[in-house]
Amino acid sequence: MQVKAAVASGGKPPVYKDIQVEAPGAGEVAIEVIAVGYSNLVRARASGGHYSAGSTDQESLVGVDGVGKIQGTEELVYFVNFAPGKGTYSEVVNVPKNFIYPFPKDFDEKAPARVAALANGTMASFMALFDRVGDVPADAKIAVLGATGTAGQLAIQVSKKIFGAKTVVGIARSAEKLAKLKQSQPLLDEVIALDEDEDKIGGSLNNVDIVLDFLWGKPATSILAAAVKAKAEKSKRLSWVQIGSIAGEDFSVPSAFLRSSNLVILGSGIGPSSPEQNRKVLQGVTEALASGKLDINYREVALADIAEEWAKPLGDVRTFFKVK
Ligand SMILES: NC(=O)c1ccc[n+]([C@@H]2O[C@H](COP(=O)([O-])OP(=O)(O)OC[C@H]3O[C@@H](n4cnc5c(N)ncnc54)[C@H](OP(=O)(O)O)[C@@H]3O)[C@@H](O)[C@H]2O)c1
Repeated sequence: MQVKAAVASGGKPPVYKDIQVEAPGAGEVAIEVIAVGYSNLVRARASGGHYSAGSTDQESLVGVDGVGKIQGTEELVYFVNFAPGKGTYSEVVNVPKNFIYPFPKDFDEKAPARVAALANGTMASFMALFDRVGDVPADAKIAVLGATGTAGQLAIQVSKKIFGAKTVVGIARSAEKLAKLKQSQPLLDEVIALDEDEDKIGGSLNNVDIVLDFLWGKPATSILAAAVKAKAEKSKRLSWVQIGSIAGEDFSVPSAFLRSSNLVILGSGIGPSSPEQNRKVLQGVTEALASGKLDINYREVALADIAEEWAKPLGDVRTFFKVK
């Protein structure tokens, strides 16, 4: 079957063109794609710069996830297709059956767009808190490092609405964006700009239970120092979850930090969780977004216009591509 799709090779920007799609193989199902997600992950994989991508020598579909209907039915599903060489930016895509996540019974007309646009950002904190941290303490205090980004804004809602956090502290580089976020998001208890002085940061992070770190690099290194130095109750566990590294690949931890207090540093991403845990997380993400429990602003762009959109930075409001 001939369909429209966006493909990339050699790390070059995607091209929108006709491709041939075969009948689904054993264990696969054909999805009529409605909308696909766009994220730092999608860009990094297409350019060959992500640990989950295979070689970019061969032309392959762009994308990691999307929303569509199982071919021949009206059944709406969220799906992922991110094995090396696989993708989702196509009018029809064959997906392993165990990578599809049904919508709940009740959802509104915006649900397909909301799920496609926000699933990647939502799963970041959902997976970290569901699986990686262990039991989230009752009345937890959670800090979000990179709170003004898509995943950061969703982490505020996930922390409070899904995992029952009592206090959420948002940290980011722009005081102006933080002030706007605080005004529009009542679930956010406190905000800290990265350039505040160490004592003030330490005061706000005293006895924080979990840090969801989307930044890594130098900003995370200095926030960790402030949090560890200010810790009043040294034996209280601080779980530092590395989720993104948008501010740098390296993070420096003086050995004394790990001996002088209960500090646990761990990562959350495609690798560490089992397939069963990942399934539970993605089903939870699909239901929470489809039902509208979690929501932030997003914008629609037609997949046919991918070349123009790809040339721009991701921007403050997350884009999704409408396929059909
Ligand atoms: N492991 C996972 O499961 C998972 C899932 C989703 C995302 N991620 C990763 O998490 C990170 C954030 O994703 P996102 O979708 O939220 O991206 P985003 O919407 O582009 O947001 C990026 C955030 O990082 C901040 N930032 C960017 N560069 C910075 C720098 N040099 N110093 C300090 N702050 C900086 C931005 O601040 P401004 O608002 O001031 O620009 C914003 O708060 C990415 O690395 C992404 O790949 C991981």
